[in-house]
Amino acid sequence: MTTTIPARSLAVEGDIGVLTLSYPPVNALSQVMREAIVEGMREANANPAVKAIVLICDGRTFLAGADITEFGKPPKAPSLREAQDQIEGASKPVIAAIHGTALGGGLEVALCCHYRVAVPSAKCGLPEVHLGLLPGAGGTQRLPRIVGVEKALDMILNGSHVPARKCLEMGLVDALVPEGELRAGAIAFARTVLAEGRPLRRVRDNDDKLLAARAHPEIFAKVRQDNARKFRGFPAPEANIQCIEAAVNLSFDEGLATERRLFTELVAGTPSIAQRYAFFAERKATKIPDVPDDTPTARVAKVGIIGAGTMGGGIAMNFANVGIPVVLVETQQAALDRGLAVVRKNYENSAKRGRFTTEQVEQRMDLLTGSLQMEALADCDLVIEAVFENMAVKKEIFGKLDRICKPGAVLATNTSALDVNEIASAATSRPEAVVGMHFFSPANVMKLLEVVRGAKTSATALATAMQIAKKIGKVAAVSGVCPGFIGNRILAARSAQAQAMVLEGAMPWDIDQVLYDFGLPMGPFAMSDLAGLDIGWSKETSKGATIRERLCEMDRRGQKNGAGYYDYAVVDGTRTAQPSEVTRGIIRDLMGEQGKVARAIGKEEILERCVYAMVNEGAKILDEGIAIRASDIDVVWVNGYGWPVYRGGPMFYADTVGLPTVVARLQAYGDRMGPGFTLSPLLERMAAEGKSFTR
Ligand code: 3HC
Repeated sequence: MTTTIPARSLAVEGDIGVLTLSYPPVNALSQVMREAIVEGMREANANPAVKAIVLICDGRTFLAGADITEFGKPPKAPSLREAQDQIEGASKPVIAAIHGTALGGGLEVALCCHYRVAVPSAKCGLPEVHLGLLPGAGGTQRLPRIVGVEKALDMILNGSHVPARKCLEMGLVDALVPEGELRAGAIAFARTVLAEGRPLRRVRDNDDKLLAARAHPEIFAKVRQDNARKFRGFPAPEANIQCIEAAVNLSFDEGLATERRLFTELVAGTPSIAQRYAFFAERKATKIPDVPDDTPTARVAKVGIIGAGTMGGGIAMNFANVGIPVVLVETQQAALDRGLAVVRKNYENSAKRGRFTTEQVEQRMDLLTGSLQMEALADCDLVIEAVFENMAVKKEIFGKLDRICKPGAVLATNTSALDVNEIASAATSRPEAVVGMHFFSPANVMKLLEVVRGAKTSATALATAMQIAKKIGKVAAVSGVCPGFIGNRILAARSAQAQAMVLEGAMPWDIDQVLYDFGLPMGPFAMSDLAGLDIGWSKETSKGATIRERLCEMDRRGQKNGAGYYDYAVVDGTRTAQPSEVTRGIIRDLMGEQGKVARAIGKEEILERCVYAMVNEGAKILDEGIAIRASDIDVVWVNGYGWPVYRGGPMFYADTVGLPTVVARLQAYGDRMGPGFTLSPLLERMAAEGKSFTR
């Protein structure tokens, strides 16, 4: 017998009721799904033939969580709690059958079931912290009661997706059933529950797993301390910790009340609004208006990378990680050997940290082959050039690739600033196959991939780059061609202000501190020291006209040789940066030579000039069509440059401040912004019309 209404169907198989929920694409717990659970559970509960209930989902995943688009809007009945109460309070055992991902509210529904089974490929997680939230449907109270406080803290604070086998070990799922046989496996499990007369296990009723933490309340202080750096600026982690503390110290219902209160506070705050915006912005960035989703793509079964330096090696790891073979091409055997050795070391370090097994290290290394011949790239579907930034060299390489690579191959350059159109048209007879794939260093770690669309890049080449980006776990955003593309062009606008302010009286460390306090991992001068001040500098051509040139002339090349804008000292095994009297002297001398007198520059001016100059450049980028949408600019800055996601991105931040304020402040700074600065007409117009970039 099967009854069906949208989003649910109840099938009765012998004495088992199978309640199937369906709401594509990810079975989010929108109002219609909550209603489906309430009604479906009522029906199954009321049916005397049904002795146990299996809760299962159609499509690619179990329930992926609350519907994020509903947050901040008036609540619609039934609430998620009502749906959960129907399950937890059922008079018959309810078994969650999990495939895909049981996330957030989805896992919290499963935690209300009396038992949980999963296929091996399934994953469970409470990722709310990534949205600036906490599990607000009892997750902070139930999870620690199942897996213990320490594991719950780990899972909730990292928002990690835990593989089914690990869930089984932790007791989060009760049994694994064979892949592809979830329904039958769950029904069989339900029959075992009935046959053995197992109880209606309600998580709320059992505090045993909390006892260890009651005896050791110091674990909360430790987790705060251990993660202080990571949590800096984010309100959600602390709220999550407080909820778990409440689970340990209060009754279940009091704990739920704490959870509700803190969730309500978080959901209304700007940080969570910004993080939810960032979630959708990342997904929007994959959509290119004139390149529809069904655009044919090249099948990427083999990748070639030219250059086995830090960048090339890092890029190669991304592909080996997902099982795609890579040919690394270098000009010298020694460079190739060095590159492969660095990759191996990186993998071995990951293995040491328990990320994967030594066997997996070898599996990955087996996918990497080296060659000194460009001809080895002949059968690659995608080739990425990752040599140093020199147009002549790149053109020579692309000329060779044009002759060697098979028809249909996508030819990508990892340039961070050079003209992709010139590389495509001047060096190849197939500019449609050429695209920019700008990885960020370290390329195996950084999430961002700036995909650069040349004037002639074909829809297929572009769609292939976007698709492969998703496959290797990158967050991709499309940029048109301009010097520095989206990310580095905005960085240059900020650097111009930072450099200017140093010659007006602010010290590099003052500027860095303001940007660090704003939430960035470091300011522009610390970043230059990290990258190396001598990139692009040579003794022969140095004119000593800038602070950076003078620092290089004094062999202050940055962190790598212990001195740059800062002095570096190793204290207790960690490198620490100290303001440098040498740098101060260079600045004073240069200002004297230019007839400049230092003035006191406040924190507000430092922040506004740096950040509003970025916004202004972002507006120009948008106006010129270099970025498809303002949120793509934010995606670039959050994922490639460490912009604090709780501030959304530069364009979102401008909307938070208000565009009229941004314009007014930029106008007020006037000439101080420098001779190269012009206000973006788009920014001015939008401010005047009361518009916003992102809302
Ligand atoms: N709410 C609303 N829409 C959602 C959603 C959600 N929870 N999860 C995904 N979507 C949408 C996406 O925006 C996307 O829409 P689009 O096609 O229009 O761009 C579509 O579903 C498909 O999503 P993905 O492209 O991300 O699909 P993938 O297959 O790559 O990934 C996923 C699937 C792993 C489920 C991923 O979508 C994901 O991580 N979703 C968010 C999960 C989450 O954070 N859940 C917790 C929500 S908060 C909560 O539950 C609060 C509770 O505690 C009270």
